[in-house]
Amino acid sequence: MAQPRILILGAPGAGKGTQSARITEEFGVDHITTGDALRNNKEMDISDMDTEYDTPGEYMDQGELVPDEVVNAIVDEALSQANGFVLDGYPRNLEQAEELEDMTDLDVVLYLDVDEEELVHRLTGRRMDPETGDIYHLEYNPPTDPEVEDRLVQRDDDTEETVRERLSVFQENTEPVIEHYEAQGDLERIDGERAPDDVWEDVKSTIESAA
Ligand code: AP5
Repeated sequence: MAQPRILILGAPGAGKGTQSARITEEFGVDHITTGDALRNNKEMDISDMDTEYDTPGEYMDQGELVPDEVVNAIVDEALSQANGFVLDGYPRNLEQAEELEDMTDLDVVLYLDVDEEELVHRLTGRRMDPETGDIYHLEYNPPTDPEVEDRLVQRDDDTEETVRERLSVFQENTEPVIEHYEAQGDLERIDGERAPDDVWEDVKSTIESAA
């Protein structure tokens, strides 16, 4: 296979970012993540798009989806520059899935399956190193260096209240996307509730067998 075109789906906290980092390293593809792209543009003025709020950040901090028009443009631009990719955070509704079909073909669609209470636990315990972007978990994956520990930050949308809202947005908008790929026979369901190394074994072999 040329550089693989991989879609990774999963609820908030399912481990998409964690596994995407390994995919990028192993397969040499770009990591296209709408969440990071939007976090880097939280204050962008979108008031001319006739949207409810004036910036992406206002949607994100409440756990709501940023309007499709904004996100579709980000993904289209990133895909046009990528030579193989893992796409993480998109599509999040059926309209975005339709847009994606016009933008690119996919070699493999992965779905990380994790129970809801585990998702809440993972997200409320998640911390990030602002210097390196590395992701940790206070219980599952704490940093060993005390200097790193001291500078860890929590994402604004990882409070329990916002996490619950994000999960309900996922159920309403993104579960139909998963059913859509499943109905097409394209979905590779992976038990994401195991340790990251065990999840990675399945992720890696599934991508390799799509070659
Ligand atoms: P986004 O940044 O995409 O967030 P998300 O989908 O909610 O996913 P997360 O990044 O929170 O979780 P993850 O699955 O990557 O988990 P991680 O690997 O970090 O989106 C944020 C917001 O942006 C949205 O709410 C929305 O407003 C907006 N947005 C983004 N895309 C959009 C779109 N297409 N359309 C409209 N709006 C959009 O892991 C989580 C934690 O668990 C970590 O602490 C990690 O260490 C730990 N962990 C990971 N794997 C394991 C494991 N196997 N066992 C134990 N712990 C683990």
